[in-house]
Amino acid sequence: MKSRYYDEDVFSYIDHSILLNPYFEEWYEYVRVVLISDEFQKRKLFPHHHNMSVWEHSILVSFRSFVLAKALKADDRVCAIAGLLHDFYPWSWMYSEALEHIDDGIFLKETKTKHSLFRKHGFTHAKAAAENYVKFFPELENEVITDSIKRHMFPLNIVPPKYKEGFIITMVDKIDSVYELPSPTVISSKIARDFNDKIVARALDKIRG
Ligand SMILES: [Fe+2]
Ligand SMILES: [Fe+2]
Repeated sequence: MKSRYYDEDVFSYIDHSILLNPYFEEWYEYVRVVLISDEFQKRKLFPHHHNMSVWEHSILVSFRSFVLAKALKADDRVCAIAGLLHDFYPWSWMYSEALEHIDDGIFLKETKTKHSLFRKHGFTHAKAAAENYVKFFPELENEVITDSIKRHMFPLNIVPPKYKEGFIITMVDKIDSVYELPSPTVISSKIARDFNDKIVARALDKIRG
């Protein structure tokens, strides 16, 4: 039976700027197995920051990191996959009514628990995502992907990424997170978004020579 979050038509849930990008098909081949999965599609219901879901945020980080990897001669497959799964933690850190109805509300467990500072989401979710992706996608397990996911919260998590793919993910993730913030930071959000778009445009120019 088809449920509310799952849809075989993945393309309807991907931003047009990505669908129309000349590198879309290559990126999609790398990440298809994740996007069509039941577990990852539940992230459409996970709020990330205000107007975005974890699904949307993860796709943006994945695609932008993939394009940057090409320009910086890093591993584009690793960046596509690690970018998509960097926030694949097994809970939601924000409440969403829709999640009450999925899997008996288990994803909301953390929103109802009080934690000390260093046990809060910001400090713990990168490690949790690195463990969770192996559980659901063991065929994708790879040392560079694991390290990139586990270290993406650097410098909040003090150990830096070991590989350049990890630095790409953490940089793209931070810039994306800034523009997802609500007003009164709308202006700085717009600047950050334009900045990220410019980086991707420059990367595309560089690839094309
Ligand atoms: Fe994160
Ligand atoms: Fe993120």
